[in-house]
Amino acid sequence: MIHKKHLLRDLAEVDAQLLQSEKMAAIGQLAAGVAHEINNPIGYVFSNLKALAGYVDDLVKIIDATETVSSLEELKSLIETLEYSYIRDDVQALISESEEGIGRVKTIITALKDFSHIDEEDFRPSDLHRGLDSTLNLVSNELKYKAEVIKAYGDLPEIECLPSQLNQVALNLLTNAAHAIEERGVITLSTGCEAGMAWFEVHDTGRGIKAEHIDRLFEPFFSTKAVGEGTGLGLSLSSSIVQKHGGHIEVESEEGRGTRFRVWLPIIQPH
Ligand SMILES: Nc1ncnc2c1ncn2[C@@H]1O[C@H](COP(=O)(O)OP(=O)(O)OP(=O)(O)O)[C@@H](O)[C@H]1O
Ligand SMILES: [Mg+2]
Repeated sequence: MIHKKHLLRDLAEVDAQLLQSEKMAAIGQLAAGVAHEINNPIGYVFSNLKALAGYVDDLVKIIDATETVSSLEELKSLIETLEYSYIRDDVQALISESEEGIGRVKTIITALKDFSHIDEEDFRPSDLHRGLDSTLNLVSNELKYKAEVIKAYGDLPEIECLPSQLNQVALNLLTNAAHAIEERGVITLSTGCEAGMAWFEVHDTGRGIKAEHIDRLFEPFFSTKAVGEGTGLGLSLSSSIVQKHGGHIEVESEEGRGTRFRVWLPIIQPH
């Protein structure tokens, strides 16, 4: 009997350790991802700044020369030696490339901030439909060109949750759905509840997900979108929010036909 107790306690400890090491692994993965994603834009913005500094030197030389040269010809020849016309074009290119790079870093940082704010809200009973409606309002502009949105809400009690974080989950699923639709399609937002769990679901008639991608969807920074179009943090953030609720996300997808993400949430949180 005592033996068994020990064993159970040891098992619980191993379990806790495993959970901890899984968390550490997730944080490590996230940090490595951030470093990788930010490294490239930071790299070229840095080298652009160096090049710009050189150009500014040359431009200052030209401007200073306007005070000292004895003839316009002399000035013109200086301008030519310093390749002013090349500088002129390249300066603009370097600046817009750098702006894009810094914009990309900013997007990543903003998405990361969402991760770090995850702990700031308290669980409270809330009307999921209201949250979904306000999220729909927020993205209706983005959705209306891509899809007809159909609402199929079931009967739901209030559920104990972090409402603004669930809105974020819905927001990401809805934008993903819109992005998956090439020309025009249908996005269906439905809800329901079963055996103490409530669910909401975003279904789209978009391009679907390749079988080999299904297992990677929730990895931080996994994205099939072009650089600058997606950070690949949406689903990973969504899944940590849902896990925090003690829920889970189901995915079903068929290439070329569409995708269904269903978020399951306990109606009551254990106290
Ligand atoms: N409804 C969907 N249909 C097809 N593919 C999807 C759908 N939802 C997600 N995906 C795939 O999963 C990937 C990861 O999604 P996720 O939301 O995490 O990142 P993202 O949308 O690429 O970028 P972000 O959300 O950070 O802007 C997407 O790039 C896409 O390939
Ligand atoms: Mg997304």
